[in-house]
Amino acid sequence: MCGIVGYVGHREATDVLIEALKRLEYRGYDSSGLATLSTGRGKGRLRVLKSPGYISALEKRIKTGSSRIGISHTRWATHGVPNEVNAHPHMDGEQNVAVVHNGIIDNHLALKRELARKGHEFLSQTDTEVIPHLISEEYRHNGGNLFEAVREVVKRLKGSYAIVVLHRDHPDILVCAREKSPLVLGTGVNEGFIASDVTALLRYTNRFIFMEDGEIAKVAADGIHIEKISGGTVAHEWTRVDWSLEDAEKGGFKHFMIKEIFEQPRSLHQSQTGWRSDENSIPADLATARIIRIVACGTSYHAGMVGRYLFEKFTGLPTIVSMASEYRFADATSDDPLMIFITQSGETLDTIMAAREARSRGLKTVAITNVVGSTITRETDLTLYMRSGPEIGVAASKTFTSQLMMMYLFSSYLGYRMGYIKRDDLNSIKEHLRHTIRSVEGILNNTGPIREMAEWFSGSSSAFFLGRYVNYPAALEGALKMKEISYIHSEGYPAGELKHGPLALLTEKTPIVALVAGDHTYEKMLGNIGECSARGSPVVAIAPDGDVEIGRYTDRVLHYPRVDPLFSPIPISVLLQLLAYYTADHRGCPIDKPRNLAKSVTVE
Ligand code: G6P
Repeated sequence: MCGIVGYVGHREATDVLIEALKRLEYRGYDSSGLATLSTGRGKGRLRVLKSPGYISALEKRIKTGSSRIGISHTRWATHGVPNEVNAHPHMDGEQNVAVVHNGIIDNHLALKRELARKGHEFLSQTDTEVIPHLISEEYRHNGGNLFEAVREVVKRLKGSYAIVVLHRDHPDILVCAREKSPLVLGTGVNEGFIASDVTALLRYTNRFIFMEDGEIAKVAADGIHIEKISGGTVAHEWTRVDWSLEDAEKGGFKHFMIKEIFEQPRSLHQSQTGWRSDENSIPADLATARIIRIVACGTSYHAGMVGRYLFEKFTGLPTIVSMASEYRFADATSDDPLMIFITQSGETLDTIMAAREARSRGLKTVAITNVVGSTITRETDLTLYMRSGPEIGVAASKTFTSQLMMMYLFSSYLGYRMGYIKRDDLNSIKEHLRHTIRSVEGILNNTGPIREMAEWFSGSSSAFFLGRYVNYPAALEGALKMKEISYIHSEGYPAGELKHGPLALLTEKTPIVALVAGDHTYEKMLGNIGECSARGSPVVAIAPDGDVEIGRYTDRVLHYPRVDPLFSPIPISVLLQLLAYYTADHRGCPIDKPRNLAKSVTVE
């Protein structure tokens, strides 16, 4: 959480810092700020500007700019309420050093006490503020070497950080360092960039270096120098990222989320065609696994839950799905599972720490991620890419369906390599997936009934989403989408569990969304719909085209183009994304930036 940017070069720094920061707003948006070093009148003075609220509020406070170097930050509060004082950048007492930080400094209280004894005074409630104070102490003692001062300070920090440091006596360099929080460096002609991720910088460059944990860098307009914090230089390859600026812009849509929902035929196609090259990278020894464990958070966890049914079906192997935040604290078993980590961003700290631990136990580890060069790719033996393109809306949409696509492709391929399913089966699964993409197109071409349903739905305050088998996780994901963007309390349930408690909550004001596929769960789902209707709850059935039976159980039906039921979570999820989106839009919610949330959760 939190987005950070640094710039040094020939452009007006304020413009770059704001423009790039806006693209990181998905990482946190409760307050923001920037620090620049003025090059015109008042040369050599650090100018800091902060504001609570969205970046647009900060932008309004900017009067003029005349600087070629600066840092900026958008915050997702961890320590201290989101106000102007707690917003970054933070400075030392003499206002020589400005720091932006993403992460949490676990030992900040001890450091603060130590600094207070030396006479330092603190203005904010943040953990970050100790960093500029420590740097200013160290800088004074080492005779003015900023790089070494930052190095000595970060050696003392415990926890997670990506920081960028600007010093008033060094108008040509920024110093940055990372430990467990992401940081990329970019370069142009006579300019250098730092950011939390590549989307921030696509307007300026597509050449990046992904910094690794334990590294510190000096970024100047004429070059970048990286060392290990513990000492010794590091040579990184530049990585070219093919995402275009258009991919990261709204392109005429009202929100990123609806644009990303509509991109799904393309993103799904990219995931499927890209798989061909990934297939060849899968080592033969993965097929010797006897048990599979999938670990993920949030929406990615729901994709993993669908994956569980698919791995069991196509490989015959027992498959366990764990939330990363829980897996890490459970006792290790004596099994030797193949570990699969699903993370869209590749930066979710709980997932990364789980992968690190699994690897340290000698387990085989595979990452499924969307972001080239993200941290998870360095924590696992193998990375499989989703290729969805950048996703900016905080609520995941196209990356979820791409993750589902990856689950179908990976599980069936592994099953084929194990000899559990045949080449013909594999080919047929791929054909079903192509057909599923066409079904998604069909939904997107006919959103009218979903919009109407959303209008009705938007008056609710509590709802239940029910599904069985592969559509049980689809129900969880549908409920998650609805609650996070529309703020309607929504719960996903396996339909058969309803009688064990939730039924007590049903009234005529509690809509039920029931996911129906024409599989072996069909009759049971109809029974569950009947149970809800009998309690007076309005039921919205999501059913395949041509299902006439369903009309006898409820008159509220949204149809999706029929697919083989095993693949129905993909079209059903797209339909539920639209239902959540239009409901939230009707309620006037800030869809791309739901309150209190962030897209990339880099704290534990
Ligand atoms: C946050 C996001 C979710 C996402 C989850 C896991 O909660 O808001 O959309 O599913 O993190 O993120 P990951 O990048 O690991 O898939």
